[in-house]
Amino acid sequence: MGAQLIDGKSYAAAVRAGVAQRSAALHARTGLTPGLAVVLVGQDPASEVYVRAKGKQAVEAGMRSFEHRLPADTQADDLLGLIHRLNDDPQVHGILVQLPLPAHLDARAVINAISPAKDVDGFHISNVGMVGTGQDAIVPCTPLGCMMMLRHHHADFRGLTALVIGHSNIVGKPMARLLLNADCTVMVAHKSSTNIPELARMADIVVVAAGVPGLVRAEWIKPGATVIDVGINRIQRDGKPALVGDVDFENVRHVAGAITPVPGGVGPMTIACLLANTLSAFCHQNGLEDQPLLLDEQDPT
Ligand code: GUN
Repeated sequence: MGAQLIDGKSYAAAVRAGVAQRSAALHARTGLTPGLAVVLVGQDPASEVYVRAKGKQAVEAGMRSFEHRLPADTQADDLLGLIHRLNDDPQVHGILVQLPLPAHLDARAVINAISPAKDVDGFHISNVGMVGTGQDAIVPCTPLGCMMMLRHHHADFRGLTALVIGHSNIVGKPMARLLLNADCTVMVAHKSSTNIPELARMADIVVVAAGVPGLVRAEWIKPGATVIDVGINRIQRDGKPALVGDVDFENVRHVAGAITPVPGGVGPMTIACLLANTLSAFCHQNGLEDQPLLLDEQDPT
């Protein structure tokens, strides 16, 4: 029997619709509009695509979008000056600096210059620390999206074992912390781990964000496990470009209980969760009730 397909596209559409609906209702009640500022330094083609998509989807959800495109040779003081202005701008409720930044800029210093209340990426050290200690905070978008999809399949994480493959600050580490906060038993593997297949065989949940096409194989997977593939790899297959994840999908799908496809799994959830975080930040900044509808919303249809 094949695994159930976790349809990130329809989850994301449901999240975006929920955000748009609440955004419109809050606007009708208060006259205020949530605003998202996205800062892009340089012209990385992949970043250009993401930034355009973020702005477009913010507008579709009834938000204001402020795009700031700066040249690749922008100096730290100029970028920090822009961030301070955005921090002080009452029309801006969320600020995102697209990563990676050009090498001469210190990404950590730039992220930590964003007001934690407007840090809709959840990358500021204060939000990282709050999530790490199990407090309410802004949660990074991709792990947040993964948790939403996982919650659909697991009402309770207690007694379950998860393996997170990859320990980046953007995905692996926050993912592990969120699962741990939900009382899951969590293992984290990375490029220096020597026993990943062995760890994977113990896992009821496998989340992989390694950037290695087809890394996770069917023999690694405990029958019935839930497999979340965060990887987006552009490869050549049969002489044609193809987008594949970090999971050997065609084989793993026969062993797993549920699995995200690539594309159409985790990817669409990231921007949807960015919008959810922006709405949440808007509510907090304006003393409006922030309904935690998004994490608990079980049914995407
Ligand atoms: N670059 C790749 N993923 C992300 C993300 O989630 N946020 C930001 N700011 N940059 C990224």
